[in-house]
Amino acid sequence: MSETVRVELGARSYDIHVGSGLLQQAGKLAAGIVKEKRVFVVTDERVAPLHAMRLEDGLRAAGIAPLRITLPAGEATKNWDQLGRLLDQLLDSRPERRSILLALGGGVIGDITGLAASLLLRGVDFIQAPTTLLAQVDSAVGGKTAVDARQGKNLIGSFHQPRLVLCDLDALATLPRRELQAGYAEVVKYGLINDPGFFAWCDANAARLLDGDRAAQAHAIAESCRAKARIVGADEREAGDRALLNLGHTFGHAFEAALAFDDALLHGEAVAIGTCCAFDLSVRLGLCPPEDARRVRRHLAAAGLPTTLPQSDWAADRLLALMAQDKKARGGLTFILARGIGKAFVAHDVPVEPVRELLAAAIAA
Ligand code: NAD
Ligand code: GLY
Repeated sequence: MSETVRVELGARSYDIHVGSGLLQQAGKLAAGIVKEKRVFVVTDERVAPLHAMRLEDGLRAAGIAPLRITLPAGEATKNWDQLGRLLDQLLDSRPERRSILLALGGGVIGDITGLAASLLLRGVDFIQAPTTLLAQVDSAVGGKTAVDARQGKNLIGSFHQPRLVLCDLDALATLPRRELQAGYAEVVKYGLINDPGFFAWCDANAARLLDGDRAAQAHAIAESCRAKARIVGADEREAGDRALLNLGHTFGHAFEAALAFDDALLHGEAVAIGTCCAFDLSVRLGLCPPEDARRVRRHLAAAGLPTTLPQSDWAADRLLALMAQDKKARGGLTFILARGIGKAFVAHDVPVEPVRELLAAAIAA
């Protein structure tokens, strides 16, 4: 059984399939898109031994030859050097304009492969086969591609939509629980932004989902993809409401950058702490009932996510400087704030002082 969600972007529209056994069916599902008899499969060293064979068998069954390129696992791979090496390996195989890349892995592989696809020969197509919960509910959808820079997260990138997204639920069976929990932070985000009904579903079903219940996972992934498809379909390039998807991210990206992207704090964990900060800031500014912020923190903690800063020796000013460098900043600080659960909005030119006070209090806590 699988479900299909459509991202409507005119000529660049595409399907997201959510279900079991999709990697084995990849050749069949991609048949209309693959124009060569080969596909460049980009994956990482942890995912390759677990899932590449099923995907590659699925491609061969449709007469497509997979050419595998394996990168190191983890956020540290999302950099300019690795991007250069990936492009070099691709060029060694003499790609054509109609060649296609397939990203098999989490958000790191999806982001770097998408960026490579947008650059190779001035742009080739790519397919996303996300294998983490985070990538299935967020990063594989919407066409943001990037690598990190010393100056901050995702600062070198492009918008390049995939042609197809295959969210195979079977892949999640091998995902460590900590990674599942990190991905869950991006699931509940959709409820917190504008869907209190989905937040209530999350409240009732997060434990089942994290314990591996397939039906709960399928529902959460399809709902998340529907929510993201709606937002991206209306605002592909983040001129407006797409920024709502960055709830918790301005704080979270600064925490990740302060830790030099070393995986001590996973992206989803940084987002969870950042989401608590965004709700706390909303309370501090008199916008949000304190009970809603407490509820968000309780919910994330119950899902096994961190809700407080990972390091007590940070300086608020250093974090503020990193936030000002975030690409979402434009002049003053931009945050996604909330008037309550399901009532998020984009706030530009947020005064710095309450943010500094909030960070100082969080560091001292
Ligand atoms: P990741 O790609 O590093 O994957 C997490 C870890 O899980 C890695 O070690 C990976 O090897 C391993 N793994 C992946 N699939 C597995 C599986 N099925 N079984 C066992 N292990 C598996 O990280 P992530 O959390 O998937 O993605 C985080 C990245 O996504 C960040 O760089 C973030 O900036 C990016 N992101 C991008 C967007 C976007 O719109 N493009 C949105 C959200 C996040
Ligand atoms: N994850 C934020 C976005 O896709 O816009």
